[in-house]
This record gives sequence, structure tokens and C-alpha cells, in this order.
Amino acid sequence: MEKIHAVYNSRFSNLHEIKISPLSRAYTFSDSVYEVIPFSNSEIIAFDKHILRLEKSCNALDLLLDFKKTTKEILELISISNLKNGYVYYQVSRGVDDIRSHIFSDNLSIETFGYVVEHVFKSQKLKVMLCKDLRWHRCDIKSTSLLGNILSMNNAKKKDCDEVIMHKDNILTEGGASNVFFTDSKTVFTPSLSKNILPGITREILINEIKDAGIEVVEDEFNINDLKKAESIWLTSSTKGLAQVSDIVDLEVDLKEDHPLYLRCNKIFKDKFLGSC
Ligand SMILES: Cc1ncc(COP(=O)(O)O)c(C=O)c1O
Repeated sequence: MEKIHAVYNSRFSNLHEIKISPLSRAYTFSDSVYEVIPFSNSEIIAFDKHILRLEKSCNALDLLLDFKKTTKEILELISISNLKNGYVYYQVSRGVDDIRSHIFSDNLSIETFGYVVEHVFKSQKLKVMLCKDLRWHRCDIKSTSLLGNILSMNNAKKKDCDEVIMHKDNILTEGGASNVFFTDSKTVFTPSLSKNILPGITREILINEIKDAGIEVVEDEFNINDLKKAESIWLTSSTKGLAQVSDIVDLEVDLKEDHPLYLRCNKIFKDKFLGSC
């Protein structure tokens, strides 16, 4: 098996050699948060923003993480991997219980775990399924508790789809592992942030860059009808970049592939963040 550089509770080793307790609250309760931090051409994309979001997720769970140590570990993983393009997965759990109990003890030590793998951004056209958003009311926290996303995305896979676009009572929220953007001929639209949406870092840096380039961006509440009228739709994430939606099953859409506005936004993103990748 190929070596994957990893770190568990600050000890570096091969991912496949790490042993964890089944009483880790990450395992029993998903009492844990995480980040996915991409790097391209040896440059970390929006590192500070990822660390800040991890801090917010930890604060939401009252997890007292040593951010200096975490930052050093993430940088060390990238450095020892010798990879130019990839991402670090980093997870923080409340710790390991003596026995499974919803109410955690006061004396738990935080448990951290990270690894680094190669990943190259590739141009993708995704088939997507529209579905009800089954999730809880704090999707703004980047928790490892992702059962709603997992059930929906795997149902979508049965329909030969790669992703989902979710809605709560007809109001668009986000993708299963991405944020949603759509356009008419000249304006870019995306659902505004709320407790039902993860504040994606790719979403944020894309909006900043395209606004700077003079493109109008509207963040608002949108519904399925708005999506039906879209000329182009794309999904954003730290591993996808901007991925075009080619079709939505069960929804009548008339999407123009390689829409000029998509191509312009994608070029702005690639030039700024992906270098020659
Ligand atoms: C539910 C959800 N929304 C949005 C995103 C996009 O966030 P980011 O751009 O920070 O990767 C992700 C990323 O995995 C996600 O899981």
C-alpha cells in the first residue's frame, strides 16, 4: 500500500499505521470538525481562511484547539509529502471517552488527525440530482456529521449523478459537498450564507475575485424556479474548484455548456489560485 503521510495527536506516521480507539467521540458521535486545505503548485490556497473557519467550527463545539500546533502540523505534512498539488484533511475531535456517553467528561483531551494526499484540479462536468435538504440546522459548522449529505449523494449516484443540489422547502441551500452558483447572461447568483449553508472558502475567494473583475454577484434567497431559468450552473469546493453542471435529473433546465460567464469566472479563479496547474 502506498505511504500516505499522516499525523495523529501530533505523532507523524504512515496513515495505515495509525490506530485509534473505538471510543473516540469522532467514531461514536461524530463529535468532531474538520478542514480540507488544498494546495496547488506548492502554494496553499487561502490558508488563513481555512484556519479561521476551523477556529469557528471548534468554537461552536467548545473545542480548545492549539491552532499554532495545528498550523505547524499542516505545513509539515505538506512539506514531508513533497507533493506540489494536493490537499490536507485535518480533523479535530473532542477526545476519547472512557465509555460511550452522550454527555462528555470535563477532562477529555482533544484528538487531532490529519493526512495529505495528491490531488490535481481537473475540469469536470457534473450530472446533478435535486433533492430535499435532510440535514440539521447548523450546516455552517464544518462537522464530520454528514449523514444527510451522504444519504443524498449516494441516492444520486444510483441515478448516475455525481452530486446533488439541495433545497429546504423549495429554497436552494448548497451541494452535497459544494456551494452552488448559477447565472443568467451577465450576473452570477449564489444563495446567501445562513446556518443552512457551509461558508465555502472557494465560494468566498471566488466571489471576491470576480467582483474585483467587475462581474455582478448577487447573494440572496433563491428557489428551484430560479435554477430552472439559469443559463449556467456550477459547484465550488476546495477539491473541485469550479465544476460545471451539465444536467439536473428530474428538473427541466436549458444549460449552455461552457457558458462565457462560467469560462470567465473559471479563468479568473484558475489564474489567481491554481497557477499553471
Ligand atoms: C456541504 C459543503 N458545502 C460547501 C463546501 C465547499 O467548501 P470549500 O469551498 O471550503 O471546500 C463543502 C466542501 O466540502 C461542503 O462539504
